[in-house]
Amino acid sequence: MTNLAENLRDLQQRFTVAAEAATDERALESLRVAYLGRNGEVTKLRRAIGELPAHERPQAGKAVNDVVAVMEERLRRRLENFDSRKVASELAASIDVTFPAIPAALGSLHPVRRIIDESCAYFRRHGFAVVVGAEAESDYYNFDALNIPSDHPSRESFDSFRLSDGMLLRPHTSAMQIRTMQRHRPPVAIVAPGKCYRRDAVDARHLFQFHQVEGLLVAEGIHFGHLKGMLTRLCRQLFGPDQNVRFRPSYFPFTEPSAEVDTTCPKCRGARGPCSMCGGSGWIELGGAGMVHPCVLREVGYEPDRYSGWAFGFGVERLGLARYEVDDIRRFVASDRDFLTQLA
Ligand code: PHE
Repeated sequence: MTNLAENLRDLQQRFTVAAEAATDERALESLRVAYLGRNGEVTKLRRAIGELPAHERPQAGKAVNDVVAVMEERLRRRLENFDSRKVASELAASIDVTFPAIPAALGSLHPVRRIIDESCAYFRRHGFAVVVGAEAESDYYNFDALNIPSDHPSRESFDSFRLSDGMLLRPHTSAMQIRTMQRHRPPVAIVAPGKCYRRDAVDARHLFQFHQVEGLLVAEGIHFGHLKGMLTRLCRQLFGPDQNVRFRPSYFPFTEPSAEVDTTCPKCRGARGPCSMCGGSGWIELGGAGMVHPCVLREVGYEPDRYSGWAFGFGVERLGLARYEVDDIRRFVASDRDFLTQLA
């Protein structure tokens, strides 16, 4: 029995050293055969148990079984170790570190924001200040001060969303004319970009939320020619050197005379043939403009005999339609990455 125990201990030690030294599955398998196989060392020992006195056999059998269990467990653990190492090495081989990296996706300015920024930059170069106002405005600033009394029919075209506190989501940026003139004496020169809201049904040319860029210049001796010059050059800045503007007589209660401002259709360039962009007119409408009405000047305490000025309000998405030759204004708010990347 002592002999057997010693032999077992010796076997187990040798087995452990060999198992740790094995470098692949094949080496482990031959180790298993050499120790636990039909003619293996452990099996030989087990056979020798039969020669022991009967009362020693159960204990000897147990001793052998214990060693077999320890050996099998070690084999299993070593095998597992090889498996995970194989997975790791296969993974390493499949990663090509020289492969070009996937470039980080950088965002870009939204086309509407770009037009606002470029328009403001243009006016700033001409000495204008950029001002922004609140989107919730009172009736006074949206209408009354702009010479639109409450019973005036043109309020209909500025129909917007009422808030519970009696304010209104501004239907145009023209309230900024009043806010600026109340705060400053002439000369004033500002651009006011921002969001506007109207209760319009959404279609290819209308959104209920959109952007405008408002401009206002009041000083001594300002006339319509100044307005025409500034807007012509703005359009050339945004669209290119051959761009023209056209003024069509129109009506706004806060300007006199008033005009709708159009710019050369970027698609047909005014060829006057059939055109899906401008419907064949050769022009794209950008917004309204005119000379500040004397009633508006008086409302803010300016002397109409001494001061005169012009104002305009352009739809930024309209400018976007023309600039990017887009067929549907809704594309600007659809968050379609493919569309936006094309314009980036
Ligand atoms: N506020 C007008 C509109 O939204 C545009 C406009 C601005 C017209 C300034 C004249 C002067 O339709």
